[in-house]
Amino acid sequence: MKMCVCGKGGSGKSTVFALLAEAFTKIGKDVLILDSDESNASLSWMLGFDHPPDPLMNLVGGKRYVQQKMLAGFTKGEAEPAMSIWELEKITSRTIPPKNVAQKGRYALVATGKIHQALEGCACPMGVVTREFLRKLQLAPDEVALVDLEAGIEHFGRGIENSVDLVVCVVEPSLESISLAAKVMELTKAAGALFAGAIINKISTPEQEGIVASKLSELGIPVIVKLGLHEEIQRACLQGRPLEISLTSVEQQEITGFLDRCLKTS
Ligand SMILES: Nc1ncnc2c1ncn2[C@@H]1O[C@H](COP(=O)(O)OP(=O)(O)OP(=O)(O)O)[C@@H](O)[C@H]1O
Ligand SMILES: [Mg+2]
Repeated sequence: MKMCVCGKGGSGKSTVFALLAEAFTKIGKDVLILDSDESNASLSWMLGFDHPPDPLMNLVGGKRYVQQKMLAGFTKGEAEPAMSIWELEKITSRTIPPKNVAQKGRYALVATGKIHQALEGCACPMGVVTREFLRKLQLAPDEVALVDLEAGIEHFGRGIENSVDLVVCVVEPSLESISLAAKVMELTKAAGALFAGAIINKISTPEQEGIVASKLSELGIPVIVKLGLHEEIQRACLQGRPLEISLTSVEQQEITGFLDRCLKTS
């Protein structure tokens, strides 16, 4: 099963992602983690890695090379989703070169690449690499793939969701975040993936939870997990420490129930 986590900027995608990844390991899954956010570097330390792996962008020849391949493809009239920069027919977590994958327990972390310099060009080459990696990725029976995405919905335009099974949207208590979830649901269906629903995050009062849940329900968006505003998460993120936090038993049960359902449907 390949699942991606998306939502509004700062809603808690990477935090929720790290919690889901850990929960998958607790039910015996190996987790192939793809960090496809071209801006933020937090995911690797949230998951307890000392260093991120060398990016896939370097493995395929570098951003400039991908830009040139894209330009050549456009000149020939190719559509971007059809472009290919990997010669391999299939990719598995065992065939990725060791320097491009960081291992820790049941985690295998790969990263598309980050923007490093002003004027280095747009992030479209990252989209090409992420899309083809996901399309060619073949998982072992006890393995799941999780993709942490950049904020917003540009990744839908790049066709990333066409290569995953399931999309989860993280929603924080704001109208903007709720509205984006409706768009994510619509785009997920159009991409042919399954929209799992919303994970409400950073809830500080039962009243707030009720308002967010009812607005999501009006939009036909299922709520799969509700997570409170945890000081422990804020502290870990301020100090750049791994997210080793204690969720409430209800939060844990909701996450486990969700993962069980995901595995049954995939
Ligand atoms: N449940 C929570 N309780 C408290 N703080 C939280 C919670 N979830 C996320 N945060 C805080 O919100 C901030 C943003 O979280 P995170 O980086 O996970 O968001 P994101 O959606 O991945 O952001 P970006 O769009 O930049 O990738 C972090 O500082 C994190 O500590
Ligand atoms: Mg993030």
